[in-house]
Amino acid sequence: MLNALWNPIVAGDIALRHRLAMAPMTRNRSTPDGVPTELNAEYYAQRASHALIITEGTQPSADGQGYLLTPGIYTEAHIAGWRKVTDAVHAADGRIVIQLMHVGRMSHPDNTPHGRQPVAPSAVRPSGEMFTVSGPREIPLPRELSTEEVSSTVDDFRRAAAAAIAADADGVEIHAANGYLLHQFLATNTNQRTDRYGGSIANRIRFAETVATAVADEIGAGRTGIRISPGNPFNDIVENDTPELYPALVRALAPLGLAYLHIGHGGDDQLLRTLRGLWPSALVLNRAFADITTRAKDIEEGLADIVTVGSMALANPDLVERVRSGAPLNTPDPTTFYGGGEAGYTDYPTRAA
Ligand SMILES: Cc1cc2nc3c(=O)[nH]c(=O)nc-3n(C[C@H](O)[C@H](O)[C@H](O)COP(=O)(O)O)c2cc1C
Repeated sequence: MLNALWNPIVAGDIALRHRLAMAPMTRNRSTPDGVPTELNAEYYAQRASHALIITEGTQPSADGQGYLLTPGIYTEAHIAGWRKVTDAVHAADGRIVIQLMHVGRMSHPDNTPHGRQPVAPSAVRPSGEMFTVSGPREIPLPRELSTEEVSSTVDDFRRAAAAAIAADADGVEIHAANGYLLHQFLATNTNQRTDRYGGSIANRIRFAETVATAVADEIGAGRTGIRISPGNPFNDIVENDTPELYPALVRALAPLGLAYLHIGHGGDDQLLRTLRGLWPSALVLNRAFADITTRAKDIEEGLADIVTVGSMALANPDLVERVRSGAPLNTPDPTTFYGGGEAGYTDYPTRAA
C-alpha cells in the first residue's frame, strides 16, 4: 500500500520525486515586518525530503495579514527573506511553493502593519477572538470591499505571485480554504454582496476564479496550485450549497491548466470523488488526521495523486525516511505550534540524531 507513495509525478511544471508532501502550516515565527528568517530557512530545509513543501500562509498585502509574525510576500525584504528559505530547500534538493493567504475578515487591526479595519466580501463579523500583542481580542466587524477594491485585491495576488517567483519559489498555492478571504467569497453566510461577486454560485466563485486566472497569467499555470476545503466550517463559515458550489468552482478552474488542486478533506468522500472526476491535473489530498496508510490508500485507489501531511510533518522533519523504513513517529506538541523560537520548531529529532 505504502508503495503508492513513492512513484515520481509531475504537477504542472513541478517535478516531484515522490508523493508525500508537506501541508501548509502557519508557525508565526517571521519578523514583525513579515520577513522570513534563517531559522525559518532551517525549518523548511530540514523538511526538504518531502515531495513538495507548501509553506505557511503568506500575506499578499498588508490587508491580507491576520495573525502576528506571519510572513508576507509583497516587499523587497520579503523576497530576500523568502530567497533564503527557497535556497536552503533547493540546496537540499527539495521543492517549495509559497501559499498565498489573504485572511479577509479573520484579522485584527493590531496585527497588521497599517492598523486598519479588516476587509471582507461583506460586513459580517466572525464570532470569536484573535490573539494580538495585548492578548486575545474580539474580532472586529470587517469593512465590505468595493467592487474596485476587489479588482485591486486580485492585483495584489498577481504581484505577490510574481514576488514569490522572484524569491525563487517553484510556484504558489492560492489559499481558497479554511474560512479565509477566497472562502469568504464562496460561502453564503460571509458573502452577501449584490455585485457580480455575490449572490448566485456563478457570482460567488468569480473571485477565486479571477484570482487563479490572474496568478496563472502572471507566473504560468504550471506553477499555480489552489487549495479548497469543501464544507469546512472553520472560522465561522456556513455553506448552504456545498454539493453544488464546489463542482461549479472546480469546473470553472479546470480549463486554466493549473499545476494542482489541493483539497483539505473533511470526510465527504462522495463529493471528493465528484471533484476528482472533474479535475484534469494533479489532485493533492489532505485527509485531515488520517494515518499514513489511509492516505497512501487514497493514491492506490485513484482518489488522489499526491497526499499532504500537516502536523506529522511538523513533528517529523524526516517523515519520509521514517515512513519508508517503518520507524515510529515523533508526537507533535500543540503548545509550540503558533509562535516561539526553536523549541517545537527546529528541534524535533530525526532518527539519525
Ligand atoms: C499549526 C498548523 C498551522 C496551519 N496553518 C495552515 C495554513 O497556514 N494554511 C492552510 O491552508 N492550512 C493550515 N493548516 C491546516 C493543515 O494544512 C492541515 O490541513 C491540517 O493540519 C489537517 O491535516 P493533517 O492531519 O495532515 O495535519 C494548519 C495546521 C496546523 C496544525
